[in-house]
Amino acid sequence: MAKYLVTGAAGFIGSSLIRALLERGEQVRGVDNFSTGRRENLSEVMKEIEFREANILDLDAMHSACKGIDYVLHQAAIPSVPKSVLDPIGSNRANADGTLNILVAARDAKVRRVVYAASSSAYGDTPTLPKQESMIPDPISPYAVAKLASEHYMISFFRCYGLETVCLRYFNIFGPRQDPSSPYSGVLAKFSMQMLRGDEPTIFGDGETSRDFTYIDNAVSANLLACSAPGDQCAGRILNCATGERITLNQTFEALKKLTGYKGTVKYAPEREGDIKHSLADISLAQKHLGYKVLVDFETGLRRTVAWYKNQRQPVGAV
Ligand code: UD1
Repeated sequence: MAKYLVTGAAGFIGSSLIRALLERGEQVRGVDNFSTGRRENLSEVMKEIEFREANILDLDAMHSACKGIDYVLHQAAIPSVPKSVLDPIGSNRANADGTLNILVAARDAKVRRVVYAASSSAYGDTPTLPKQESMIPDPISPYAVAKLASEHYMISFFRCYGLETVCLRYFNIFGPRQDPSSPYSGVLAKFSMQMLRGDEPTIFGDGETSRDFTYIDNAVSANLLACSAPGDQCAGRILNCATGERITLNQTFEALKKLTGYKGTVKYAPEREGDIKHSLADISLAQKHLGYKVLVDFETGLRRTVAWYKNQRQPVGAV
C-alpha cells in the first residue's frame, strides 16, 4: 500500500482525490489551512485519513508532512485569476512559493513522485487551438505566471535532484463540491447555484468566451495515472488534463437553464482583467504517456453537478 500526501485536502479537487484514493485502499495524509478549502468536503472521510491543519508556506510543517510519503498530489493553491490581479503577491506566495516549499520537503523526504495541479492559464491568449504542451507559454494574469513558475520548479527538481515530477495542466475542472459561494468561484459552480436559486447570473464578456470544461472524475483519473505510469513516460513532463471539447459561456447558460429549470435572463458585464478568451486542449500527449481517457463528458458531468447542488439540503454558501 502506497502512502499519499494531498495538499489542499479540503478543496474541491483535493477532497475528490482523497475519496478516490481511499476507495482504492490507499493510505492518505492531507494538509490544508482552510484558506479556500472547506471542512465539509472532508467530513465523510476525516476519520479515515491523517489530517493536518497546516500552511504549505510553513516549511517545517511540510517537511514533517512529507515524511514516509510515496506520492504527493499538490493541489493547494489560491485558484483564481481575478484574485491574483487584485493581490499578485498573495497569489505568488500560495501558488509559487508554496510549490517550492513542497518540492524541497518532498526532495528531502525522498518522496517517489510529486504530481502538480498546473493550469491551462499558462498558455495565455495565443490564437492557436487546441493548445499543445510544446507551445511557448504566454501567461496573462499573475495567477498564470505563478502557476507556470511552479511548473518550471517542478521540472528543475527533476533535473537537478532526480525527484520525479508530473505537471497536469488542468482545464477548468468542475463538479460536485466546487465552492459556489465566492465571487472568485468557478463559473459552473457559481452559475449552477445562482440559477437553482432563481438568481440572475452574469457573463463577463459577450458570452462567446470558451473553455474546455473538464469533469472532476477525469482529473482524478489523470492524477492516479500520473502516479502509476512508468517514470520514463511521465517524469519531468507537462501534460494537459482536459476533454478536448470547447463550450462557450452562452452554451453553458443554455444547458444550465434546462438542468436547473431557471426561467430568467442573463446579465452581460465587461470582460474580466486577466481573462483569456478561448481554451481548448489537445489531450494526445496525456493519452500517450499516461493512458489517459475522458471518462465523463461535459453534458454528463454538468448533469451530475447540478443534481449534487440540488441535493444539498442546506445551500453550500451565499452567492
Ligand atoms: C479556471 C480556474 C483556475 C484554473 C483554470 C484552468 C477557478 C475559479 N479557476 O480559471 O484555477 O487554473 O481554470 O484550469 O476554478 N465568468 C463569468 N461569470 C462569472 C464567473 C466567471 O462570465 O460569474 C467567466 C470568467 O470571466 C471566465 C470564465 O467564466 O471568462 C471562466 O472563469 P472561471 O470559472 O473563474 O475560470 P478561469 O479563469 O478560466
